[in-house]
Amino acid sequence: ARIYVPGDAAAVALGADRVAKAFEEAFRARGLDVQITRNGSRGMHWLEPMVEVVTSAGRIAYGPVKARDVPGLLDAGFLDGKGHELRLGDPEEIPFFKRQQRFTFARCGLIDPISLDEYRANGGYKGLERAIALGGPATVEEVFESGLRGRGGAGFPTGIKWRTVGQTPPQQKYIVCNADEGDSGTFADRMIMEGDPFTLIEGMTIAGIGVGATKGYVYCRSEYPHAIKAMNAAIKVARKAGYLGQRVAGSDYDFDMEVREGAGAYVCGEETSLLESIEGKRGLVRAKPPLPAHKGLFGRPTVINNVVSLCSVPFILANGAKTYADVGFGRSRGTMPIQLAGNVKHGGLFEIAFGITLGELLEDVAGGTFTGKPIRAVQVGGPLGAYLPRHQFDTPFDYEAFTKIDALIGHGGVVIFDEDVDMARMARFAMEFCAVESCGKCTPCRIGSTRGVETLDKVIAGQDRERNLQVVEDLCHTMKLGSLCALGGFTPYPVMSAITHFPEDFGRGHLSVA
Ligand code: NAI
Ligand code: SF4
Repeated sequence: ARIYVPGDAAAVALGADRVAKAFEEAFRARGLDVQITRNGSRGMHWLEPMVEVVTSAGRIAYGPVKARDVPGLLDAGFLDGKGHELRLGDPEEIPFFKRQQRFTFARCGLIDPISLDEYRANGGYKGLERAIALGGPATVEEVFESGLRGRGGAGFPTGIKWRTVGQTPPQQKYIVCNADEGDSGTFADRMIMEGDPFTLIEGMTIAGIGVGATKGYVYCRSEYPHAIKAMNAAIKVARKAGYLGQRVAGSDYDFDMEVREGAGAYVCGEETSLLESIEGKRGLVRAKPPLPAHKGLFGRPTVINNVVSLCSVPFILANGAKTYADVGFGRSRGTMPIQLAGNVKHGGLFEIAFGITLGELLEDVAGGTFTGKPIRAVQVGGPLGAYLPRHQFDTPFDYEAFTKIDALIGHGGVVIFDEDVDMARMARFAMEFCAVESCGKCTPCRIGSTRGVETLDKVIAGQDRERNLQVVEDLCHTMKLGSLCALGGFTPYPVMSAITHFPEDFGRGHLSVA
């Protein structure tokens, strides 16, 4: 017999370790020989810890399970998948899961994260085999044809980035994975590193073959100890099995990689300060050009991609660019792992083709708020993303559609707020976040954000509101145009969207929207 208890950090935060221990003790006490596998999460947070048992009718899920539920579950015939009030049935039939198109996250929650055999038995390393057969340039073209765009937030075409690095003269080149997932309400990078780390290893290896790089670094935030542990364990297994190191999988290519831990600065997720940090320096943003693709890590051509971008690559190579490009919306091709968080009934990871509207996501998929009160605003794209009001909920998930309304998709994080939210405080928080996290290199961000906090405090206190709001608008204008990186440059999005869409929270009359 075999059961799965997630080892994912979100499930652990909800008691999964205690549940695993309770099962272990109960099996021992009852003389039962049952294997407990710590899998990744299926991404349905409100059901975590969601335990699965392998039965003759397939996997049956139960959740949310507490340690104290274990004896009752066993008495009710849990090991045979029998009835209990926590029984959820086939996990893949749960509507939240069933509606998804799991290309990138297909194995997350399904397999033992560090079992290479299970990875391979579920389609793993098929993409690498194809990349080896195609060779570097054709591999890059395949990624270009798929239409994949940077899932870290900027949406830059991955194939063009790889081409740029591939076309620089042969020399030491690097693949750097940005796993400094700092956006509020996002956890896709963490989830896949914990639940299916070989996918990232395979994606980085394919990138190495594509552009002629032999060394990779995963720059992971220190707040992700479970992900760091899973990545290191999987790297060790892959190296031992000949999937990393010299002559990868018996080919003529060499590729090896390691994990580097960040130290907790949001700005180290900005690609150039991330490179500085790997080089052992303070995380200060570099001016671009030169682009990292030309002069990146240690001054060498470097592909720097987000975790989800690199994890999308094995699917693209294994199934062909067309399969990936066939789904999507406009110029946003493939799928996006959307992360639903905040005041939400059904929070978690929802991977779906681009094009779903915010309204469908919020009402049908997420089921509204946790408190049951109406949704007033959502922030999409992390702390630098705009706050969207209800009348924009018909916006489809698409990079261009979001740009059109002065908003960002970013890394796919959606944070939901009910009618009790005070948008003036949220605008102040955006400025404060920027002031705290600013690397200090440029004036508009370093000083503008601090002045922004002070001025918004005056607005909140009701002092000379109109004049102070004008000062905030001027500051935002200067920060947007004069900042060196996205931290200072994008902070105006949450601030200005809050002022524009929720004027009543700033002491202005409500704007009626037709
Ligand atoms: P960017 O638009 O400057 O660059 C995007 C990427 O394309 C970079 O890797 C850049 O080096 C590359 N690039 C641009 N032109 C190129 C060319 N001609 N050839 C090859 N490569 C080229 O955007 P940036 O500053 O890298 O990222 C900003 C985004 O980061 C924002 O949209 C925001 O959503 C996102 N973000 C994500 C966070 C997260 O936790 N995932 C946190 C904070 C921001
Ligand atoms: Fe540093 Fe802010 Fe300037 Fe970015 S915008 S370089 S974080 S001071």
